[in-house]
Amino acid sequence: MQNSELNLSPLSDALGVEIMDMAIEDAIAPHIFERVYAAFLKHHLILFNNIDLSPALQVEFAKKFGDVQVHVMNQYHGYGHPEIYLLTNLGEDGKPNGKHPDRGTMYWHTDGSWRKKTGHATMMYSEFVPTRGGQTHFCNMNKVFENLHKNTREKLSGLKAIHNLDFSRTRRHGEDPMTPEQRAEVPPVAHPIIRIHPETNLKSIFLGDHAEAIEGWDYDVGRNFIEEISAEITPEEYVYKHQWQPKQIAIWDNRCLLHRATPYDTEIEKRVMRRCTINGDQPYG
Ligand SMILES: [Fe+2]
Repeated sequence: MQNSELNLSPLSDALGVEIMDMAIEDAIAPHIFERVYAAFLKHHLILFNNIDLSPALQVEFAKKFGDVQVHVMNQYHGYGHPEIYLLTNLGEDGKPNGKHPDRGTMYWHTDGSWRKKTGHATMMYSEFVPTRGGQTHFCNMNKVFENLHKNTREKLSGLKAIHNLDFSRTRRHGEDPMTPEQRAEVPPVAHPIIRIHPETNLKSIFLGDHAEAIEGWDYDVGRNFIEEISAEITPEEYVYKHQWQPKQIAIWDNRCLLHRATPYDTEIEKRVMRRCTINGDQPYG
């Protein structure tokens, strides 16, 4: 690629851009990656279409964005790369097994918010996608913040939510709980609900399904408050709904987006996604 301009095509009014006509081998070249990263910061989500991506190249590309997380739930590691978290509903025979690999992903959340240093970016590569459902929805939490009613903004100001993977995991699929060792590795952690983006300085609402309680509040009062606020902060107008095609790469900014997957027929349809999560910073407000 000789041209200094990227060929970009917007995905929605809310967020997201497709980077057209680019091989990943080119995208990782330093002078081009700079522009790819600028598009990521500006649009919050970048998409590449029709890419043959080996697991090794995926990890190499993910590492351009920062440190790649080795997930605590090690039963999901894929292809011999501990940086790849495999989301699949295929059994050992290669057929759909009727099980959703992670039902927690179907509720609005941001990856790694249960860590002290939360997720920076997530890279997802689609191998098999269902013909119906299995979408990923993204909500622009900076736009949500900017359009919040003044009273709600005041209510949230200065508050911290306690994020806890054990809480969200148990709540959404209690039949496969974390082991005591996994639990001990990721204790609950408090983060500001209004978060300043460390690179753009834009403010966003930082909540989602891992948020269990409000720091310093009675547990039940905090829980009700989180439920109430959560019901208001993903209005359709700030949401982009991505219908996956095979061989796509989406990379999104976890510091200013919430996302969720939609259900699909796990008995019939195949859905195999390879995910890398890039570690980020400790949120501040
Ligand atoms: Fe996620």
